[in-house]
Amino acid sequence: MSKNICFIDGLEGILKYREIDINQLVDLSYDAVSYLLIQGELPGDKELAEYSARLQGEREINREVMDVIRMYKLNIDAMEALRTVVSFISQFDPDLNDSSTEANMRKSIRLIAKIPTIIAAYYRVASGKEPVPPDRSLSHGANFLYMIRGSKPSKLEAEVIEKDFILSAEHELNASTFSSRVTASTLADLYSAVVSGLCTLKGPLHGGARAEVMTMIQEIACPENAEKYILEKMGKKEKIMGFGHRVYKTYDPRGTLFKQLSKQLAEAKGDMHWYETAEVIENTVVRELVEKKGKPIYPNVDFYSAVIYMYMDIPPQLATSIFAIGRVSGWIAHSFDQYEKKKIIRPRAFMLDEC
Ligand code: ACO
Repeated sequence: MSKNICFIDGLEGILKYREIDINQLVDLSYDAVSYLLIQGELPGDKELAEYSARLQGEREINREVMDVIRMYKLNIDAMEALRTVVSFISQFDPDLNDSSTEANMRKSIRLIAKIPTIIAAYYRVASGKEPVPPDRSLSHGANFLYMIRGSKPSKLEAEVIEKDFILSAEHELNASTFSSRVTASTLADLYSAVVSGLCTLKGPLHGGARAEVMTMIQEIACPENAEKYILEKMGKKEKIMGFGHRVYKTYDPRGTLFKQLSKQLAEAKGDMHWYETAEVIENTVVRELVEKKGKPIYPNVDFYSAVIYMYMDIPPQLATSIFAIGRVSGWIAHSFDQYEKKKIIRPRAFMLDEC
């Protein structure tokens, strides 16, 4: 069952969720893809309308949660607020300790619906602004941009962020999903499994790379500075964030789609300089690593998605948490699969040498 949630061919650059290629899924809504991951098949029109309505109806957060969010400052990464607040909201869920399939489904809807609201409320409050309540008439992606900005995004921006959530939703046994599965394998509740995923996603070798890519591109500032900057960094044997992958030995198929989307946004905004800076970085890293290691290392999911956030004026402090908005569906799908197995994951220490 678990292998059906996701399929990756790291040599051919193929990624499928539930046996459907990512290139097809990217044109659907995030709600439909989240339903697919969790329920195992795409929803029909009626199921999708009901599922979306349930998600929209669970977007609000209560006053007690807002009081906790108001304690945070903007100089931290949003993941620090998010992991605490997701843990905190579990006490308000009447199904917390009910592990039936129906209760787990209700919890998953609450988690998927509320995570964007928590991030947006944190960002607004920490920036000295009033939080913007969710708008039920908007899609998952458009509503998130609306809640952080206080105004509705353009059609293209709404489409791009929806695709960002879809492309971030699932990736087999990556580090954060493995964490969620280990927690679920102890039969701990779904909130605990999601908090484990959040804590692991945060690190710069995993989801945290996206924020570091944004900071790097901001520092470089223009295409003319990019090659010298990268050569200096590589000369000091520093890793270039947003490149390389444990599984892909070819171009990450999500990277290809993100590259196209970032170009589309750049053209629509009439400002190519972030995109062109990113392209010079890519060409330099690929060229240098082929020379030094004899094999190419390509942009991963975090590289051009970072460029997209830059065109949408999303600050680096929010980047990893936005990854979590998408990935939560994958964590939940894997946790449900693990609950069914009723078997604890307990590797032996010698296996760590192979990681
Ligand atoms: N910059 C410079 N050199 C690199 C990079 C990079 N980004 N990635 C790999 N290399 C080098 C390695 O140091 C290694 O050199 P060595 O043989 O001299 O030790 C060589 O290329 C081969 O590395 P791999 O075995 O292919 O990489 P590994 O599987 O160990 O690590 C990882 C994968 C952690 C993603 C790594 O590429 C990396 O640290 N990248 C930067 C961080 C990043 O972008 N993380 C996000 C990954 S996607 C995700 O988690 C959502």
